[in-house]
Amino acid sequence: MVLPLVETVADPSPAREIDYCRALEEGRILFFPGSPFELPEAERAVLLAQRQSGAGYHKNIAYRPAQDRVTGFARGTSADAERLRGALRLYSRRATEFAAWLLPRYARSWRVDLASFRPEEEEGRELPRRSRNDLLHVDAFPTRPTRGDRILRLFTNVNPAEARVWLTGGTFEQIAPRFAPPALVERARRDGLADRLRRLARWAGLDVSVRSPYDRFMLSFHHHLKESAEFQRSVEKRQVEFPAGSTWMVFTDMVSHAVLRGRYALEQTFLVARATLVLPDKAPIAILERIAQGPMS
Ligand code: SIN
Ligand code: FE
Repeated sequence: MVLPLVETVADPSPAREIDYCRALEEGRILFFPGSPFELPEAERAVLLAQRQSGAGYHKNIAYRPAQDRVTGFARGTSADAERLRGALRLYSRRATEFAAWLLPRYARSWRVDLASFRPEEEEGRELPRRSRNDLLHVDAFPTRPTRGDRILRLFTNVNPAEARVWLTGGTFEQIAPRFAPPALVERARRDGLADRLRRLARWAGLDVSVRSPYDRFMLSFHHHLKESAEFQRSVEKRQVEFPAGSTWMVFTDMVSHAVLRGRYALEQTFLVARATLVLPDKAPIAILERIAQGPMS
């Protein structure tokens, strides 16, 4: 069963906050038809003028709020780079302020992760299979393990005319028991060579994060879902359209999704602490621990 979108207007009262958290943690998409925060015309124009460098190499343009740095864009003049940075900084701030105003419970201890800008047309994009976003998957970050914390993403379609079109399939709770091969779970519980090296590097004082069994599973499950023709074909799915100017929020580590069409989307990621969840039993790590019958953190 694919859960429906929850269309709503932003209301920051505490009673509504619990409803929003519950809807998100059940695997629904919170959808705001008119964007609940402003991105001024000048910044919008900068974004719509962007082209991306060597498409295929960098999938998206990324913005790191903590360092105020942009990566993955076509180098123009330094004035262009500065304008792009300014636009992404403003989006990242406004998106974060809005999400923190709506969901203070999460904001108290979340980590504000990267923002991204997706200027390329998604339809017909040629990317390596594991990077393709037109195949249904749940998100997992290769370089930023979460150890069971959650990936919450806020998207805004800044395209002036066209919708961004997604497919959504089942939630982690629905697809993991059916599509996760037991060998994948088993392998994730063993420390691989790469993980031992990471631990050693960390011990030597390098700034790398160590993956937990949960992170190893989520990364291999992400690859497995994109590579499984059987999953792509047989999972129940629904097409969702996000019109020009709309904003939506979703836990992408739990709701399987793919983008079919559209260009010019902005996105801000938050890593939500497991301890702040309203429905911790619905978190992918809890579901996985039930399947594995043992700890995965
Ligand atoms: C994704 O997270 O897989 C892509 C979503 C999008 O760019 O709309
Ligand atoms: Fe994704």
